[in-house]
Amino acid sequence: MERTLVILKPGCLQRGLAGEVISRFEKRGLKLVAMKMVRLTDEVLDVHYAHLKDKPFFQWLKDGMMAAPVILCCWEGHCAVQVVRDMAGATRASKAVPGTIRGDYSTSAQENIVHTSDSPENAAIELERFFVESDYCFYDSPLDAFKYAPDEI
Ligand code: TYD
Repeated sequence: MERTLVILKPGCLQRGLAGEVISRFEKRGLKLVAMKMVRLTDEVLDVHYAHLKDKPFFQWLKDGMMAAPVILCCWEGHCAVQVVRDMAGATRASKAVPGTIRGDYSTSAQENIVHTSDSPENAAIELERFFVESDYCFYDSPLDAFKYAPDEI
């Protein structure tokens, strides 16, 4: 099954929204297979946000991501990358649809609660950036038969 990276950003943690956001992914049926709290560094953010390095807000973005710890999560499920991305909503939270995470908890482009991988290819690269193999926990999901068709597992 597909895996994707979610970063609960510093604002999510500071505002006490981590449990709420994690709960949304759980209720959707996604499986949490790795999780850790870390402080991100300038070096890793240069790589993670390399596609934005020429944007005027690049330093603000990095400063915001280093302002407090973040929670890194790997979620697994059928079509997990797109499902999680859709649940997060538009990057500019002022345009995010209500019912999405950003649409319910933010109006900011920068302080938009979560990072989510944008493609299966980037999910694999990003997961390797933040997790090592021993960070993953493999456990049975007895309810999978009630969540998925046989060809979705
Ligand atoms: P991006 O990778 O374009 O979006 P997403 O997080 O939805 O995959 O942008 C990365 C982060 O850069 C975004 O989550 C917040 C920040 N950002 C700004 O601060 N201002 C902006 O105008 C944009 C587009 C992004």
